[in-house]
Amino acid sequence: MDQDELKRNVAIAAIDYVETGTIIGVGTGSTANYFVDELAKIKTKIDGTVASSITTANRLKGHGIRVLDLNVVDEISVYVDGADESNRFLHLIKGGGGALTREKIIASASNKFVCIADDSKLVDILGNFPLPVEVIPMARSYVARELVKLGGQPVYREGYKTDNGNIILDVRNLQIMQPVELEQKINNIVGVVTNGLFAARPADVLLLGTQNGIKILT
Ligand code: 5RP
Repeated sequence: MDQDELKRNVAIAAIDYVETGTIIGVGTGSTANYFVDELAKIKTKIDGTVASSITTANRLKGHGIRVLDLNVVDEISVYVDGADESNRFLHLIKGGGGALTREKIIASASNKFVCIADDSKLVDILGNFPLPVEVIPMARSYVARELVKLGGQPVYREGYKTDNGNIILDVRNLQIMQPVELEQKINNIVGVVTNGLFAARPADVLLLGTQNGIKILT
């Protein structure tokens, strides 16, 4: 099986977590796209969705799936999204696709967060994948200098603007031994909107696509 098949299989497995008559949070990226395509097959069973990016909202609408503004939703039963890395505690690095802030908002607002990924995403220590940090444009250089003080090597994501109109710094060279603490420290830098560590609110379930089927980590 190639990586795409593993992603599709794990997206199919995530459908088991979709409860009839509820609102579903939907993530961004190639794995989340497979989930959207599976969700389309059962779209009449759900009340609607909240999307973590404009791209995902468009894909959902393309399938005729109802997309709601988070502000009009009382409860999201489950949020399903991919990740760039996960450790065994289900702390994640996300934001490779640039949607980290809306992803984190929806993950926080959801009763359950089901992360879906192929097994290449499971690592012992987070940080090999550069950590995305969404930053208010005028604070770019200041935030970059503060990130260097934390031991990272920030790289400006050239030509990229988030759905919120901000820029992204991808921080290389981090060996993240204490994800919860680092998430907090980076969020405390003035000018940072969010960083791609999902550790204060980790996933509740990690579904991993492997050559031998779906592995479930909780
Ligand atoms: C987007 C994300 C994605 O979940 C992450 O980049 C994984 O993407 P893919 O499923 O394409 O490997 O955080 O901001």
